[in-house]
Amino acid sequence: MAYAPTPLTFRALHLLSAEGFCSGEQLARTLDVSRTSVWRALKDLEAAGVTLLRKRGRGYRLATAIDWLDPTQVSRHLGTYRDVYELRMVDVVESTNTTLLEQAVYGAAAGLILVAELQTRGRGRRGRAWYAGLGGALTFSVLWRFEQGAGFLAGLGLAVGVGLVRALRSLGVEDATLKWPNDLLIRHQKLAGTLVEIQGDVLGPSLAVVGVGINFRLDASTRERVDQAATDLVSAGVRHDRNGVLGRVLWHLAEVVNAFQDHGFGPLRGEWESYHVYAGRAVTVRLPDGGREEGTVAGVDDSGALLLQTRSGLRRFHSGEVSLRASGIDRRRRSASSL
Ligand code: BTN
Repeated sequence: MAYAPTPLTFRALHLLSAEGFCSGEQLARTLDVSRTSVWRALKDLEAAGVTLLRKRGRGYRLATAIDWLDPTQVSRHLGTYRDVYELRMVDVVESTNTTLLEQAVYGAAAGLILVAELQTRGRGRRGRAWYAGLGGALTFSVLWRFEQGAGFLAGLGLAVGVGLVRALRSLGVEDATLKWPNDLLIRHQKLAGTLVEIQGDVLGPSLAVVGVGINFRLDASTRERVDQAATDLVSAGVRHDRNGVLGRVLWHLAEVVNAFQDHGFGPLRGEWESYHVYAGRAVTVRLPDGGREEGTVAGVDDSGALLLQTRSGLRRFHSGEVSLRASGIDRRRRSASSL
């Protein structure tokens, strides 16, 4: 990635966040650096999705105030799960999943959460990048450990989806839906995605790093980078700040993962299906080798695999490298109904 925010970038951002308008000279003096360093820090901020307003004679100001992430505020929403989680917040990291996976290997405890204001190399499913602007998203990963083997965790990603929808509905987003396997949508636009990475033995124990990216307020430069229809919580009418949203999401995730630890995905399956945007719809499954399979969605099984009714019978797809699209006729019907 072209930009590499430094501690100075964040010091400049905190100053702008606290002061309103600041001249380049004032920034240089307060931060005790040269005007050139200030100029570079401001360029880094813009590259990271922060919109700056410039006014002759007054200097720079943030176009939108940043509600900084704050562990104390998040904890207020965690109730009995406050002691289960350990929250760590950082300004910048390549990918919260990558870092947490490394820490898991060195023995980090279950419940460790890594939240970043900015990821410089955020990862999505199927080797894709995940983009989010500084202060405009919630990007975090949670470590969970399981006594069961890695195979037991197959449906975990879908269980997490149930937790996310419950959290969003508790925030008033009634039309949040899921798209198999891991996308969270509002009116067919992507609001959030999850990346679940699993390690462990067949017979156990095993661990999962559950990475979640939620668009809070998409900025113009992030929108340009994203290669699909996307939306954010602000557009969905959510008035809670990022700490409030994160707290509620973590609470609901703890609920579903606890249930999953005891009983697997099976008991959550019906609820997941009720949120599925393509339930009973004609879809095309795209396979990693470029092949396609057409059929009608017939639900998911207890391991989270997609069930597709095809001409040649019921087929089962495991999330891995497969992706799902509404097939032509269903897509046309959808765009007609959204006119
Ligand atoms: C997808 O929709 O393809 C999954 C996106 C997952 C993004 C989150 S952001 C926090 C965590 N860290 C990453 O690098 N990825 C996940």
